[in-house]
Amino acid sequence: MRLRGKRALITGAARGIGLEFARAYIGEGATVALADINAEAVAKAAASLGPQAHAVQMDITRQDSIDAGFVEAVAKMGGLDILVNNAALFTSAPIVDITRADYERLFAVNVAGTLFCMQAAARQMIAQGKGGKIVNMASQAGRRGEGLVAVYCATKAAVISLTQSAGLNLIAHGINVNAIAPGVVDGEHWDGVDAFFAKYEGKPLGQKKKEVGEAVPFGRMGTAADLTGMAIFLATPEADYIVAQCFGVDGGNWMA
Ligand SMILES: NC(=O)c1ccc[n+]([C@@H]2O[C@H](COP(=O)([O-])OP(=O)(O)OC[C@H]3O[C@@H](n4cnc5c(N)ncnc54)[C@H](O)[C@@H]3O)[C@@H](O)[C@H]2O)c1
Repeated sequence: MRLRGKRALITGAARGIGLEFARAYIGEGATVALADINAEAVAKAAASLGPQAHAVQMDITRQDSIDAGFVEAVAKMGGLDILVNNAALFTSAPIVDITRADYERLFAVNVAGTLFCMQAAARQMIAQGKGGKIVNMASQAGRRGEGLVAVYCATKAAVISLTQSAGLNLIAHGINVNAIAPGVVDGEHWDGVDAFFAKYEGKPLGQKKKEVGEAVPFGRMGTAADLTGMAIFLATPEADYIVAQCFGVDGGNWMA
């Protein structure tokens, strides 16, 4: 029960990694606001986790939605101690096929969404006067380019950079900002990634997933559950002296 009494908001928590983090935080005693653009899915997800879970419909590309979502979450939980910036979109295309619309959509969610949710959380935590923890979901994709993944990689590099700047700025208020960089994590998100590679590399569906799993030094793709240890740790007082860092939790994938 390392998060007993803590109040967390997790974006993009209707499925995948965000939902698994919500389950793990509740298992450690926290109350969690699961925020997602998909109202129906997030209501169902929160209902599956019991009374310590609250569903909040929030589109992190819209400032009015962020503002209203944080007000609702704080009202439901009585405050905010932890933010996990997890919502993100993925896209893939060779440079010559990238569209401006895709570029703007990804930066709106992955970068502006992350920044302005950090801002909303920081304002609330500063007003409460007891510090807080912010965990941003980066990616191995933010640490180096990939030929077919330029836009997503650039957004995740920006998340790492924002983590560094916000970490340096907000530690003055006792707010730790750090990031997690997963490698390849199985789930609905990667089903979509697999479909992109099937299109651009002419592979049968499922082939890319198989290849990336076999290439991980650990021997398989990650699961959302592989990431929960770091997500919990970064939200506890044990991480008080950790500032502006990005931790790879990837079975050795990026190092290899
Ligand atoms: N799955 C992987 O292999 C992997 C690897 C590295 C990093 N990551 C990162 O981990 C995080 C979670 O990944 P996942 O695999 O669980 O993704 P996912 O696609 O399964 O879930 C993302 C969630 O974000 C929500 N969302 C999308 N746009 C939104 C918006 N505008 N406002 C609010 N919510 C919105 C979606 O509805 C969805 O529920 C992401 O930041 C992703 O980039 C994932």
